[in-house]
Amino acid sequence: MKNFDINNLVRVNVKVLKPYSSARDEFEDFDTANMIFLDANENPYENGVNRYPDPQQSSVKAVLAKNKGLNTNQILLGNGSDEVLDLLFRAFCEPKEDNVISLPPTYGMYGVLANINNVEHKEIVLSEAFQPKVEAIVEAVTPNTKIIFLCSPNNPTGNSFTTESVTTILESFNGFVVIDEAYIDFSDKASWLAKLDQYPNLIITQTLSKAYGLAGIRLGICYGSPEVIAVLNKIKPPYNVNELTQQRALERLQNQTKIDNEITSIIAQRESLLQVLNEVSFVKKIYPSEANFILAKVDNANKRYDELIAKGIVIRNRTTQPLCENCLRFTIGTEEENKKLMEALKSI
Ligand SMILES: Cc1ncc(COP(=O)(O)O)c(C=O)c1O
Repeated sequence: MKNFDINNLVRVNVKVLKPYSSARDEFEDFDTANMIFLDANENPYENGVNRYPDPQQSSVKAVLAKNKGLNTNQILLGNGSDEVLDLLFRAFCEPKEDNVISLPPTYGMYGVLANINNVEHKEIVLSEAFQPKVEAIVEAVTPNTKIIFLCSPNNPTGNSFTTESVTTILESFNGFVVIDEAYIDFSDKASWLAKLDQYPNLIITQTLSKAYGLAGIRLGICYGSPEVIAVLNKIKPPYNVNELTQQRALERLQNQTKIDNEITSIIAQRESLLQVLNEVSFVKKIYPSEANFILAKVDNANKRYDELIAKGIVIRNRTTQPLCENCLRFTIGTEEENKKLMEALKSI
């Protein structure tokens, strides 16, 4: 990142475009002032959601900023992390010219979004220990490489990447390093958020879909430098996070103790499942997990997957993924669900 300059990375059309200015962007104090709103062609009859939502989601961002020790201008919210990741492509990757790098086995959306955006997707498979092959990654970088995606803790392997490997990638690359921390709340490793000020090319994504228990409302978070966030704000759809989502997120964020308790029980259940998997004869290897799932290698993934389905339990068969032959991924459920899974595993 010695020669990092965001101006070299923003697409030309994004640099020059004039963003859409919504009615609510133009009147900033809309949620506090006692005004009559005749500016946005809404239906005036109150029903709780007849008005457009806050386009900047100021209340949600204020809570997140306070919790994470950041400023609100370092935060962008989206309709799930998937929208946030898509915005990164649209802001920084020129279709048919640029490329991005991801490290399989990993979250599939990086590749799908690259395809949707007509951006070349380079894949550098992780090492056998599921760590980034730093030299190979650095060698794969070209002047048109705009983003390297690191998922840590990684899905589906469950491990985090070493500090040294992430640091080397951050320091040697002049494009963006996006660390997807969807599962960070289940890990005892520190988030990379503390390093945001140190690395202008660092972007971190998190989500309320996992530990925060709000997959249904679709709220993804992007943390980056104010310059990065300003570019993303310019291109995001004006009202990309709806009113109900903002309300439910605020409610949930006010009850951190409940969230922490749920995380604690999920981790405890993860440890119980780990012990049972250790005793199951067809389980050949269990990978250590810092997430809310466990990846395990079995004798025959397709067969064991079907057997669990027959017992009414759906897990994820990852056998077609690189380095994951005959691997199954078990999401950690409630204590009761976990008990049923453990009984099913023992009875097969
Ligand atoms: C690594 C990773 N990132 C992001 C997501 C999606 O997050 P969201 O629900 O915020 O779109 C997932 C979902 O499984 C994931 O595994």
